[in-house]
Amino acid sequence: MNRLIQHTGSRYPIIQAPMGWIARSQLASAVCEAGGMGIIETSSGEIDNCKNEILAMSDLTNKPFGVNLPLLFLKDDSMVNFCVDAGVKFVTTSAGDPTKYISVLKDAGITVYHAVPSLDGAIKAINAGVDGLVVEGTEGGGFKSPVEVGLLVLIQSIRQNSDIPIIAAGGIVDGSGMAAVFAAGADGIQMGTRFVSSKESPVHTNFKNKILESNIDGTLMLNKSSKPVIRALKSNLTNSIEKKGIMDMADFMKIQELYFEGNMEAAPALSGQSVGLIHEIKTVKQIIDEIIIEFNQVCNEMGKYKF
Ligand SMILES: Cc1cc2nc3c(=O)[nH]c(=O)nc-3n(C[C@H](O)[C@H](O)[C@H](O)COP(=O)(O)O)c2cc1C
Repeated sequence: MNRLIQHTGSRYPIIQAPMGWIARSQLASAVCEAGGMGIIETSSGEIDNCKNEILAMSDLTNKPFGVNLPLLFLKDDSMVNFCVDAGVKFVTTSAGDPTKYISVLKDAGITVYHAVPSLDGAIKAINAGVDGLVVEGTEGGGFKSPVEVGLLVLIQSIRQNSDIPIIAAGGIVDGSGMAAVFAAGADGIQMGTRFVSSKESPVHTNFKNKILESNIDGTLMLNKSSKPVIRALKSNLTNSIEKKGIMDMADFMKIQELYFEGNMEAAPALSGQSVGLIHEIKTVKQIIDEIIIEFNQVCNEMGKYKF
């Protein structure tokens, strides 16, 4: 049996990415109902709202779901304790030292995957005792490593060093992308940009339409000489940040105006290169069903090759 499914209890090894303000119960429960694993974000820092979103999940789905804990941004252990008390079974950790809460989470019987953008990060997480890794290639949307390594190379380099379960993230939107990362050694996939553009995603139509209109060169890596490095859609704002070479964090503060009011110049619109592969707004169920059908077809086709 697929190792990620064993860990999540979901029907398919497909994870919805944690995304500040976006990865909440409306989207996450749709993913769970469609057979994937929905993840509730806590990176927005809106701890009380996120706790309520976690509680809301049990009203919306009886399928398993997970929570993301961005370690650097947690002010204290209240969110960790809340996950333990709420009976959360699957946690992804990111942005920070994977040893920080690993024993509390593992002692509570929670499966922990840590997000890494590099081989070094993977080895540290493995040594910290995580159950699996979310391996994030440079193709993906959101906060990125300044060292730009593509997903397939990253998975293969980690596979040369470890057999730990891997969720592949970055640039995947369909069954052929899923088959490609499985061929490289992944056990599952995580998608952000594809789910942002789904019907159930809470973001404004302007953001979804901009994803549909964009090509594979429609994103920029910004703030490369500082922190955080991000990948976001091209816009007047992001073009000017790229020209300056540095991002003022104030540029980021109006992200909710972009997400929910549709002002595409209010902040950088976090998105991956996969925007160029997304041409239609689909329901989460349609996205997941089509991925599984195509994944099975591609695997059958590939099985015919004998050189
Ligand atoms: C709009 C958006 C917001 C994101 N916000 C977060 C976040 O808050 N925390 C996080 O760990 N990753 C975040 N990410 C990165 C995703 O977790 C994931 O690694 C990435 O989306 C995968 O690549 P893809 O966008 O090509 O699917 C975000 C991505 C997007 C597109």
